[in-house]
Amino acid sequence: MRIPFIAGNWKMYKNRSEAKAFAEEFKALYGGTDVKAAVCVPFTDLDILVEAFRGTGIGVGAQNVHFEDEGAFTGEISADMLKEIGVDFCIVGHSERRQYFAETDGTVNLKVKKLLEKDIRPIMCVGESLEQRDSGVLYDFIKSQLKGGLEGISAEDAEKIVIAYEPIWAIGTGRTATPEQAEEMCAFIRGTLIEMYGEETADEVIIQYGGSVKPANATEIMNQDEIDGALVGGASLKPADLMAIIDF
Ligand code: 13P
Repeated sequence: MRIPFIAGNWKMYKNRSEAKAFAEEFKALYGGTDVKAAVCVPFTDLDILVEAFRGTGIGVGAQNVHFEDEGAFTGEISADMLKEIGVDFCIVGHSERRQYFAETDGTVNLKVKKLLEKDIRPIMCVGESLEQRDSGVLYDFIKSQLKGGLEGISAEDAEKIVIAYEPIWAIGTGRTATPEQAEEMCAFIRGTLIEMYGEETADEVIIQYGGSVKPANATEIMNQDEIDGALVGGASLKPADLMAIIDF
């Protein structure tokens, strides 16, 4: 049985005082649910949320990590540094990082491996552009992102990875993939995982959909068989909206 998992991705929003206010409000709303929840926040907010969510079961995630343990990498943060703060999750390979910060399947793979080594669960993002969807290469493209990102990762470790399917054309655009489009690709992702790891392992992997998820469309997205959760951008900035999605 896969437990539904809703994660927020704040992107580059909220300073420390805003994060604290969010945490207090969200903590008061969260409860009475079997749905797992986490928020992935800017590095500078991590300690505030870890502290505020202690004992609540709400997870805290980062949005990026470096793949080396330490070194002369100005501006970077290591998995050990995240672990020391008490981070549970880390987003890897978000399309914004692939597009603006030259993230590749190769670096995604190194980051996923490093996070697993340090016992932080990766949320690995994949997703096609509108051009790729329209030209019909979308399935080959998603398969290559999965194979590249997961190269050399054992079945035992693969079970700990959350895969987020985020079609680039649906991110921040208000244009959600239809539940059928999202389900179709999440089923394809599950099928690829079966090819790579076998059914038993693939059945354990949480697959999220991301792209303009909001309270109004969460139910129909979450009701799809192969969609186990959502990675929520804009709507995760408001405690009541995030809670409404968790309560889908
Ligand atoms: P929106 O929910 O704002 O479309 O963002 C999706 C996303 O990129 C989550 O990682």
